[in-house]
Amino acid sequence: MIDDFRTLYGSAAGVRVFRAPGRVNIIGEHTDYNLGFVLPMALDMATYVATAPSGDGKLRIHSEDRKETREFDAAAIGDLRPEHHWTDYPVGVAHELTLAGFAIEPANLLIRSTVPDGSGLSSSAALEVSSALALLNGRPLDPLELARLCQRAERNFVGVPCGIMDQYISVFGREHSAVEIDCRSLGHRYVSLPAGAAFVAVNTMVKHALAGSAYKDRVAECAAAVVGIKTMFPAVESLRDVSPEQFEQAAHLLSPVVARRARHIVGEDARVNRYVEASERGDLGLMGKLMVESHRSLQHDYEVSCEELDFLVDAALRMDGVFGSRMTGGGFGGCTVTMLRPDAEPSFRQEIARAYQGRFGVAPRTYLCKPSAGAGEYSDSCL
Ligand code: GLA
Repeated sequence: MIDDFRTLYGSAAGVRVFRAPGRVNIIGEHTDYNLGFVLPMALDMATYVATAPSGDGKLRIHSEDRKETREFDAAAIGDLRPEHHWTDYPVGVAHELTLAGFAIEPANLLIRSTVPDGSGLSSSAALEVSSALALLNGRPLDPLELARLCQRAERNFVGVPCGIMDQYISVFGREHSAVEIDCRSLGHRYVSLPAGAAFVAVNTMVKHALAGSAYKDRVAECAAAVVGIKTMFPAVESLRDVSPEQFEQAAHLLSPVVARRARHIVGEDARVNRYVEASERGDLGLMGKLMVESHRSLQHDYEVSCEELDFLVDAALRMDGVFGSRMTGGGFGGCTVTMLRPDAEPSFRQEIARAYQGRFGVAPRTYLCKPSAGAGEYSDSCL
């Protein structure tokens, strides 16, 4: 990558490389912006940003994937507006950094990513966090502030009202562990998954146009549910505060659609906690069952699945060694995550690919998900 940097910019003097991983969420979907619980793991697929001072007042950003370089005046970065372009992510981060009091130093950046784009494995957060580290170039920033700053970039500049999960796990991921995040306190604990469980993500290779607008609709529907439930339980500030019993009592106050959305969130929060307990006991059967319950709830109540995701889940559940399967990430395409016996992994990957190709005529990509370290400077010690 450093050689490529030199070829692109003419010199690699003072170059440093920063890395931030993508993620797969095991359980706890759409709960983050309801201040509930999630259980993602950081992946070994990551975005890398090489950076060195440009010395000419310019900030240049080159994306290998897009085969494009964009150039900005570093001092005027705070004046830029979103362009609905891939540079909105790093520029949005630069924007937030200036608001947080960090000057944007003139620099050349080279971006390389192994996180598949638009796959629900959080390529956006990997780009945001790695860009933030590169733009900081060694200046210290508290890890939680780093995650929050990148979330603000996505919400305020890119314009997606996302929760904190993706940026948080990209910063706080750890090898061999999933991370249970409390999206209200913003605390976390590491969860070591049982040795008898492997996780495979299967990519539908589709991203439906609905994804962006439906995400915003779901955020609004959850807010409407809180307004309704609050009339009976005034202490409720978010769906995180609603117990399953309270939900049953208040459901008639909500429109049928809003009630289904809320039922998903209330049930999903409980499932995350039960999943972590089951994982600690090594109860693989229950873990798998909770993943399937999560999928059905996302499919029927939250309505963020799609034909391709449902097919992959149903096909996985018929295969040898599979404990459970569900869609992962925002939905409307992207990936499923399947929990299975480690020895069943090679045959599962072959069979699911064959089944999907037979049905949709597209070869899905499959990824073995190994919990990996969170973001940081990338050096020889990481190799
Ligand atoms: C996207 C968002 C996250 C989260 C998931 C759904 O990945 O960026 O904040 O809401 O969808 O769980």
